[in-house]
Order: sequence, then C-alpha cells, then structure tokens
Amino acid sequence: MTTRICIDGQLTDESAARISVMDRGFLYGDSIYEVMRTYGGQPFALDQHLHRLQRSAQLLDIHLPVPLATLEQEIRDTVAAAANPESYIRFIVTRGTGPINLDPATAENPCRVTIVTPFTPHPEPLYTQGAKICLVSAGRLSGGAVPAGAKSGNYLVNIMALRAARQQNAHEAVMLDGGGQVSEGASSNVFALFGQKLRTPPLSVGILEGITRHLVIQLAQEMGLQMEQTGLTPHDLRQAQELFLTSTLREVLPVTRVDDWVVGDGQVGPVSLELRRRYRERASTRRDV
Ligand code: PDD
Repeated sequence: MTTRICIDGQLTDESAARISVMDRGFLYGDSIYEVMRTYGGQPFALDQHLHRLQRSAQLLDIHLPVPLATLEQEIRDTVAAAANPESYIRFIVTRGTGPINLDPATAENPCRVTIVTPFTPHPEPLYTQGAKICLVSAGRLSGGAVPAGAKSGNYLVNIMALRAARQQNAHEAVMLDGGGQVSEGASSNVFALFGQKLRTPPLSVGILEGITRHLVIQLAQEMGLQMEQTGLTPHDLRQAQELFLTSTLREVLPVTRVDDWVVGDGQVGPVSLELRRRYRERASTRRDV
C-alpha cells in the first residue's frame, strides 16, 4: 500500500513531494481539483472527471498547462506506480506562482499535482444503520462571484459547515442557501424519496454537478422512479420516506437522522439500498458513466 505523487509530470514519493509556498493554490486556494477512486484498480469515470476539471478551468479562467490526454496519462501512470488494490485519486491544477498579490493576471506556471493513495471505504455499519446529517445555513450562493459549478480548492465554507456538523456527531453537513433551500452536502449531493418520486436540488441552486449524482439520476430512471430536480426545503426533507447522499467516495449513503429527528421509520430504505447496489455493479463493470 503506497502513496505516489506526480508533480508537473514527475513521479515522486510523498516525503519528497514539494510545491512552492508562492503557489496560489497554497496562498489562496486558487486552484481546481477532482477526486476519483478506482474499482478493480482502474479509475472510474475518469473521462467525466477530466471534463469537469476542464469546465472548472474555464469557469475560473485557470490555464490547463497540458492537454487532457497528458493529464489522463499522468493519472494512469501514478495509479499504476502506486499499485494499490484500490486507490483514492486527487488531481489538482493551481493558477501557479507569482508576486504575492490577488491579481490573477500576475500568476505564471500553473502547477499540476496528482495524489494517489490507498482507498479506505467508509465503514459498512454507516451504510446498514444510515448516517446522521446536520442542516447548516452556510451554502455556496448561486449567482455569486465564484461560479458554484466550478470545483475549486477553496472549500472554507464547506469545511466550516462540516465542523459544525461534526460537533453534533453528524457524518455530513447539508448546507442551506441564503433563501433557506437545501443545496448540497459539504462534499456530497442530496436526494429525497417521496413515494415513487425521487427529488434532488437543481443545479441552479448553486451546487456542484456531482458525477455520482448524474449516474444515480440515470439509475433511478432505469428503476422506474420519477426523477425531479426541484428545490427542497428542510420541511420537505421531513416528509421524505428516504434520504441519501451521493459522492464519489460514499457512492449512495442512506441518511436516517437529520439533526434531532428521524427519517421515515428510522431504518435504511429499500430504494437507497437498491441504488447503491446498482451503482456498485455499474462502477465495477464499466469504466464510464
Ligand atoms: N467532492 N458537492 C460537493 C461540494 C463536493 O465536494 C462533491 C464531491 C460532490 C459530489 O461530487 P461527485 O459525485 O462528483 O464526487 C458534491 C469530492 C468527493 C471531494 O471533495 O472529496
């Protein structure tokens, strides 16, 4: 089980990996990133993650220093060098270095880093018992100066929301936007089941377009569920029979408690379980969504 790092095309060990303290990723979180994992040792949905990185770069006007195909090869080489049974993969592109000032026009030499480390799944009891989430008024704002669709390295809002949730012994914070609408988890998307209807907030509330979210929407439709991307309020969540979170690292994680109340009958629901089963089957048998 090893961690391998690739910086600007050079493979190295964690202890030897270095980037400049003048890098704007370090100074300001002025960077973009993606998180993936492997199934059967191969990255899942690599193409979708590369394209989301490209979209984030366009939204934030960060220059991708090499073509996507080069990035892809570097990621594959780093995964192969780590040779773990399953790996967690993070790749980052920063705006680069320059004089210490905010002006992005002064940045040069965007830096790219791939980190590959052994993948540790969330503990299975979390899936059989269901997770607790906390609602936190802290969401990223739609229409703000930073486009919500960009996966930037600047996660302070999410970090502080998660801190508040962890103080209540919750697994995840689900953030409410300025209008009190449910937006997304600190590092996940949210779904709620009402009868045969599955609802998830629309992208227009200012959420990240999760790659897991995208696949789960497809799988739900294949199961014959009616899929709706409409705003959700905390009151709506209280009426739901089932709630779950989606993300690359969680896949489909059932939620059985929200703050101090219980979801449905307090047990993990059959739709969440079936969606997780289908998601895992799909990820283990196909490389792309
Ligand atoms: N984050 N929303 C936010 C704010 C996220 O950070 C993430 C994932 C998601 C789910 O996206 P996806 O299904 O593509 O993983 C939604 C990654 C996993 C992370 O930062 O660790």
